[in-house]
Amino acid sequence: MPNEGYLDKSVHWKVRSGQIGFAEPTHSEVADAILGAGLATQVGQRLGSGKEADVYLCRDGGGLIVVKVYRQYRTAHRGGRPIKLESMGQRALVEFDLLSYTWQGGARVPEPGRRVENMFSMQYLGSPEAVAPMLQQARLEDPEAFLSATMSGIEGLAEAGVVHSDLSPFNILVYENLPWFIDLAAGVRVDRLGTPAWVRLEEAVRALESGGRALNRYFRRYGLSWDTIEMVRRVRAKIELYRPG
Ligand SMILES: Nc1ncnc2c1ncn2[C@@H]1O[C@H](COP(=O)(O)OP(=O)(O)O)[C@@H](O)[C@H]1O
Ligand SMILES: [Mg+2]
Repeated sequence: MPNEGYLDKSVHWKVRSGQIGFAEPTHSEVADAILGAGLATQVGQRLGSGKEADVYLCRDGGGLIVVKVYRQYRTAHRGGRPIKLESMGQRALVEFDLLSYTWQGGARVPEPGRRVENMFSMQYLGSPEAVAPMLQQARLEDPEAFLSATMSGIEGLAEAGVVHSDLSPFNILVYENLPWFIDLAAGVRVDRLGTPAWVRLEEAVRALESGGRALNRYFRRYGLSWDTIEMVRRVRAKIELYRPG
């Protein structure tokens, strides 16, 4: 089994002795972890749930924040072997770094808070009444303006040195009529291009093209067409700036 090698002895023991279940942790276990890490003072409802992580609405003192929690043990697609804690800490670290980096670079992403192990906090996008909807579910007031803001938002990410490799109407939130980019976990740093980085760049472009197809499908419902070639051109133009010489 592929994951077996990653598990240390104590985990094997806990698995055998039944101290670790492979079921997802309950809400109260996650809440304890978040509170214990000092990331929030109150843990509320789960806002979203993906393949590897869950996102919780929380309160920190007076204000609302969100905490993204990478699951410590998840069952593999088949075989049901757990994955070790550190690898999920690593995923959280990678996403948190990319978030911090793009935020500092002025991209429209939620402001990062803090990371502890497999969890990190960030700005909550939404009002006290309602969370900002995913683009997929949003009803746009001005689709044309939103499309163009999405195009420049992607350019803005590239300007900050990152290509979002998982672009889709599920990873863009509509907040104050503007596109906000989330879920940077698989982002590609493009501001440090050595030789192997050109491979990375090609990878990034392929990911952008697939994101472009998803966005094109989305904007078609408003009778608009998304220009993926233009998006790639703009992103490339930003990336060129990083090339030495
Ligand atoms: N900063 C945020 N503010 C409000 N809602 C958020 C925020 N970040 C994530 N969410 C909600 O949680 C869901 C999952 O977040 P995401 O980062 O895309 O995780 P996943 O890796 O599970 O796809 C999103 O679709 C969104 O509804
Ligand atoms: Mg997502």
